[in-house]
Amino acid sequence: MTSTRYLHDQPGETEAPPPPVNTGRPSVSRRGLLGAAGAGLVGLAAGAAGGYALGSEEPSPAPQSPGTRTYPFYGEHQAGIVTPAQDRLHFAAFDVITNSRSELMQLLKEWTVAAARMTQGLAAGEIGPTSGPYEAPPDDTGEAIGLPPAGLTITFGFGPTLFRKDGKNRFGLADRQPAALQRLPHFPADKLDSLRSDGDLCVQACADDPQVAVHAVRNLARIAFGRAAIRWSQLGFGRTSSTSTSQATPRNLMGFKDGTMNVKAEDPAAVDTHVWIPTDADSKGQWLVGGSYLVVRRINMTIEIWDRQPLKEQERIIGRTKAEGAPLTGGEEFSQPDFALIGSDGEPLVATDAHVRMVHPDNNGGAKMLRRGYNFVDGSDGLGRMDAGLFFLAYVRDPGEQFIPIQMKLGLGDGLSEYIQHTGSALFAIPPGVAQGEYVGQSLFA
Ligand code: HEM
Repeated sequence: MTSTRYLHDQPGETEAPPPPVNTGRPSVSRRGLLGAAGAGLVGLAAGAAGGYALGSEEPSPAPQSPGTRTYPFYGEHQAGIVTPAQDRLHFAAFDVITNSRSELMQLLKEWTVAAARMTQGLAAGEIGPTSGPYEAPPDDTGEAIGLPPAGLTITFGFGPTLFRKDGKNRFGLADRQPAALQRLPHFPADKLDSLRSDGDLCVQACADDPQVAVHAVRNLARIAFGRAAIRWSQLGFGRTSSTSTSQATPRNLMGFKDGTMNVKAEDPAAVDTHVWIPTDADSKGQWLVGGSYLVVRRINMTIEIWDRQPLKEQERIIGRTKAEGAPLTGGEEFSQPDFALIGSDGEPLVATDAHVRMVHPDNNGGAKMLRRGYNFVDGSDGLGRMDAGLFFLAYVRDPGEQFIPIQMKLGLGDGLSEYIQHTGSALFAIPPGVAQGEYVGQSLFA
């Protein structure tokens, strides 16, 4: 049998340096590190930069190309929030199936180690997919062999049921459940599928290669065996938001630019105000300082009906032009709408039920959110209708102020409601970033 080995696992290799720290900016690829750190790091650098393309002496690809890009796993905040939104998503919600607090902590420790490795383009485990005892399952599943790191980020979260489920204080965490971490209410017109909703834990894996994102979630699910099981999961194939001014605004499946007015990483004051949980938060939630809340909504679009609407009606419903994404009151994509302007027909230029009027911060007490959603198509329903839409992900400091009232309003009066149906829902607390030597969510168990 021939087996591929990761060069960093070869005997005699130099010990790996500590992984880089998450600053929200991409770090140089492992190929870049190789040049910088010199020959002593040959093993690690070659193994990581080429993903699993090992043993190759070929010239390295450009350090910052999307494939070879890596984002640090360790840092003050978890990566995958203000990180420029990657193109692909695999999201999974897990049920914890053990009753043991120490097994839960052990799982989070193992997830941390594997996630720190995979985000740097390494195999999930130290041995790798094709080495180790022939009679034992490999500690990496192997489908990412030959793939680059692809900007993978892995973001972990804790659902309300981790703290208390059916009245039970499952892991002795009930007195640490922040007031804001509750199951989202049932909103008007919700058509939720309980098998696509909620969860004790969540993992958001984003990458510029779909198989890299799937590999990450799959290996975390494999590691969790006997302690946590996937409750539901969702693939997303195209980002519907920009989280950095360096990115062009993408389009959702209604064909409109989405993410224009998003909170962006280059505006740290806005990120501090709207995303990160401050030190004076809820006393039970002190462990969450520097973290955030993630609102998850699987929103189906009735695509076939939408596609039969005249362009004028489509633009009226959104309140922006389809071509440029400019407000219907004029200007260009990034111009602010003037909600007071009235057209020649005596009606407001941005209709009273237009989506952008309903959600604009000026009409919601200044509330903003960092949206990080993805397009999805999960096949069709047998009647020729696509099971497709927007997997809405939004990071907020306080869901009770920044999401719940806005969604209540949308459910009652958004022009878009006629063309969408919310089919999945969840809320997770996103713990702060992980320091080297610690594990994700450690402050919760301290
Ligand atoms: C399938 C469902 C949805 C579609 C197709 C959609 C589409 C859009 C579009 C095209 C824009 C304008 C471009 C932009 O600024 O990003 C926008 C803006 C926005 N949407 Fe949605 N959206 C959906 C659901 C939601 C939901 C559920 C919420 C929150 C409850 C939401 C909150 C926002 C916010 C906060 C803005 C920015 C408003 C501003 O600052 O001007 N959207 N959306």
